Amino acid sequence: MSPFPIHRPRRLRQNPFIRSLIRETKVGVEDLVFPLFIREGEKEAKAIPSMPGIYQHSLNHLAKEAKEIFHLGIPAVILFGIPRQKDLLGKSGYEEGNIICEAIDRMKQATPELGVITDVCLCEYTSHGHCGVVAKNGAGKKIVENDSSLELLSKMAGAYVRAGADMVAPSDMMDGRVQKIRDELDAAGFKETPILSYAVKYASSFYGPFREAAGSAPEFGDRSSYQMDPANLHEALREAALDLEEGADILMVKPAFGYLDVIRMLKENFNAPLAAYQVSGEYSMMKAAAQKGWIDEKKAVLECLTCIKRAGADFILTYFAKEAAKYLE
Ligand code: PBG
Repeated sequence: MSPFPIHRPRRLRQNPFIRSLIRETKVGVEDLVFPLFIREGEKEAKAIPSMPGIYQHSLNHLAKEAKEIFHLGIPAVILFGIPRQKDLLGKSGYEEGNIICEAIDRMKQATPELGVITDVCLCEYTSHGHCGVVAKNGAGKKIVENDSSLELLSKMAGAYVRAGADMVAPSDMMDGRVQKIRDELDAAGFKETPILSYAVKYASSFYGPFREAAGSAPEFGDRSSYQMDPANLHEALREAALDLEEGADILMVKPAFGYLDVIRMLKENFNAPLAAYQVSGEYSMMKAAAQKGWIDEKKAVLECLTCIKRAGADFILTYFAKEAAKYLE
């Protein structure tokens, strides 16, 4: 509590320049990362019905898209691949020269200064849609196996950095994957390539539109055997501590809006850079309401981004990045 109570706080709200001078949180285009879906084998970009304004891009016009993003002032993208072939082990995600490697190459040729982050996870590439290897346990029950998944995930990260990725972002939620990926990158001569860890990723229903966009809905069960229970706050401390110990350079919380308390707690407990992912469901809900005229899209988007930063995020992955860049001009 301030020892000097201000009796009329409204005085400071009467004038836009004063409001601006005392504003505690500012969002800029430099705080935003734009997620991109890249589809193998298609010539045209394909609209994603559940995410108005977001597309599955083809390699063909990726150069144009990269230039547009860069000219808006957005510093980086995060890439998700949609392969033609999926199999049990998600090979199309980790073989050298795959769709993401090709995309990195095209983007780096078009706009070398645009940062390229790659999501590292098997779910877009496996036929069963799970984020790791599916095997049977001792009782014959299908499970997502932790340790055999690490091998494939680290291979994937290696392929992406060799193709020119600036940072890798494991989102699979297997235990020990940051360490395994760090070892792989170091051994491959990429000691200076950072890891942005989806350290605190909840088993959320707000990934629904993404799974339509990436065709990655799990064929059986759900992801609650590896993603976190939305009811848990303190577990986030354990996840974050482990990932930092294993060599994560930046932590991420996902989703963002229902988890602002988690963002704040990590910011206060760890001296590490922190990202937040405003996920597909958060985007689609706001889009839908705006399309119906129920909320003002521009105001709602800027408000949400400000709240996420106020909670403690240093930067935000958001499907609104391009629109926000225009609003913030
Ligand atoms: C891959 C991954 C997902 C998202 C980011 N990386 C899907 C999931 O875990 O089901 C979700 C992003 C979004 O909803 O925008 N594991």
